[in-house]
Amino acid sequence: MSNCNVPTPHISARKGDFAQTVIMPGDPQRAEFIAKTYLTDAKLVNNVRGICGYTGFYKGKRVSVMASGMGQPSMGIYSYELFNFYDVERIIRVGTCGSIDKELHARDIILAMGACTNGNFAAQYRLPGTFCPIADFDLLKKAAMECERLKLKFKVGNVLSSDTFYDDSASALEWAKMNVLGVEMESAALYCNALRANKKALCICTVSDSFIYPEENTTAEERMSAFTNMMEVALEIA
Ligand code: HPA
Repeated sequence: MSNCNVPTPHISARKGDFAQTVIMPGDPQRAEFIAKTYLTDAKLVNNVRGICGYTGFYKGKRVSVMASGMGQPSMGIYSYELFNFYDVERIIRVGTCGSIDKELHARDIILAMGACTNGNFAAQYRLPGTFCPIADFDLLKKAAMECERLKLKFKVGNVLSSDTFYDDSASALEWAKMNVLGVEMESAALYCNALRANKKALCICTVSDSFIYPEENTTAEERMSAFTNMMEVALEIA
């Protein structure tokens, strides 16, 4: 489907309900946490399928926050509708990832300059080769500068957007030989949609677990609230 009016099949908000910048965690509860912790005057603009979206103000700037759900099909739907039907200009994903890089530990940050994938999302573009989904340079540069200003430990590089969390081949670590830093499940679809629509996207990931240091893995509760650093980076550059 390429032609659609608002509300869309998945978002009940009206035209103008979203700000030009949307912060996107995967988890609807994290979207609520961001809205209630950081935004003033936050209004619920979507709650279809429990994918809550809010629009409010951060330091005077109008910003929205809405969950993407898990995986590229879900991110694919929400980011497509926001970019193409709600005139959203920028989506900044704030997610968690599993690190496959020896220098990264739990709570460190990855700025996803590119997103490799074992999925098939980009096949729809029928390009005569392998497409390379990349972040918007301006957002990436600003996020790196903000991480430096806040003295956060971060690395910039590739992530793997995997279509499987439980993978029979346990192959995620193989991507480390190409210096891929971490594994998550949404960025490649987000970057494809942004580039196709001539819009901007960035994925900021906090390491929630490490394939190399499994003893460092964080709990669901820690993931929910302890990852405020990346949320602040995203809001500052919004
Ligand atoms: N795989 C995919 N997505 C993830 C992971 C993982 O190990 N950790 C956090 N998000």
